Amino acid sequence: MRNVFDELNPPPRRLMGPGPVDADPRVLRAMSMPLLGQFDPAFTAYMNEVMALYRQVLRTRNRWTFLVDGTARAGIEAAMVSLLAPGDRVLVPIFGRFGHLLGEVAERCGAEVRTIETEWGTVFEPGRVAAAIREHRPALVAIVHGDTSTTMAQPLAEIGALCREHDTLLYVDATATVGGMDVRVDDWCVDILSTGLQKCLAGPPGSAPITFNERVEARVRARRHIERGIRPDGFEAAAGPVIGSNYFDLGMLMDYWSESRLNHHTEATSMLYAARECARIVLEEGLDARFERHARASRALVAGLDAMGLERFGDEIHKMANVTGVEIPEGVPGDAVRAMMLEDFGIEIGTSFGPLAGRIWRIGTMGYTCRKENVLVCVMALETALRANGFRAPPGEAADAALAAWNAA
Ligand SMILES: Cc1ncc(COP(=O)(O)O)c(C=O)c1O
Repeated sequence: MRNVFDELNPPPRRLMGPGPVDADPRVLRAMSMPLLGQFDPAFTAYMNEVMALYRQVLRTRNRWTFLVDGTARAGIEAAMVSLLAPGDRVLVPIFGRFGHLLGEVAERCGAEVRTIETEWGTVFEPGRVAAAIREHRPALVAIVHGDTSTTMAQPLAEIGALCREHDTLLYVDATATVGGMDVRVDDWCVDILSTGLQKCLAGPPGSAPITFNERVEARVRARRHIERGIRPDGFEAAAGPVIGSNYFDLGMLMDYWSESRLNHHTEATSMLYAARECARIVLEEGLDARFERHARASRALVAGLDAMGLERFGDEIHKMANVTGVEIPEGVPGDAVRAMMLEDFGIEIGTSFGPLAGRIWRIGTMGYTCRKENVLVCVMALETALRANGFRAPPGEAADAALAAWNAA
């Protein structure tokens, strides 16, 4: 019997769903470091280091590259509420659950939301986005890079160029891809992008790195207001409408993360330590080496699933490297298989949402979880769990195929 006074003792797991995944032990260690005051020069130096590290991780020269406190959707909310004033038009191309989330956050900002949709499991041709931009003339295009709900990744370079051509800002939710797939903020003309720690960055949920350029800065400054109790003498508010959130006001966050260090929230000290360590780990490995490791794990996992005779979900070409969708075979109780994976093997995999709930499983190979032994143990466990639930996969072939694919790389 569990007692509320018992010490925390979470069961050991391999978290191989769509995120959160296992945090790198180095990140957990960094989080246990002593706290510092938020204006301690030692702490503000860490803040500046975090900015410099994430510029490299996100392949950007943007000065404004910092953390929004909260899970990944805190970054989404900060971007939307700071950019969209009531009545502003936004175009959201939706190819999964998280596209719907962007649309819903924009609606809550009072924006006039226009959407285009493509079938889950596919992505957009740039021509469709171009036509929608011409039709709707949005102030902002908001799109997801890798939508974990469908396991598809939307190519962005052409969409970025299109937005620039039409003088439309581009926001990208790259929560699920940063640190696992190439993300090039500057080369792709992304104006503002946010992410989260709990997937390929191998940290816990609770911090949302964000980056944005001068085009975004100009829009935010045009709405600049400072909280009454900390307003410097002589400050004059901008003429634009006040940003509808204090916590997510990018203007006030810029003041806090710049030399003026104008107080805003109390920075989440331990999450900043975590974010710093995540970035250090990514950059020590090297971005390209890290992307190749994720692609290799994807090839190995796919080889294992194919050898079991399972059908994969979605468009092959646009499959994310770090999460794989697989159809639950006809007649197999998907939840019973997942429960057996968890209880008997300590492995967590996911199902999906909306039209894909109970139709596919999603297997993540992200960040610290993206390792050879995890892929092998996962396919072996899945094979056993499938057999126990009435699906006959050829015994042993999945692990052999996954191992061969990993070693062939
Ligand atoms: C693509 C994408 N965007 C946004 C989110 C929301 O992130 P959070 O749950 O950390 O707020 C997720 C989480 O799974 C995601 O995969």
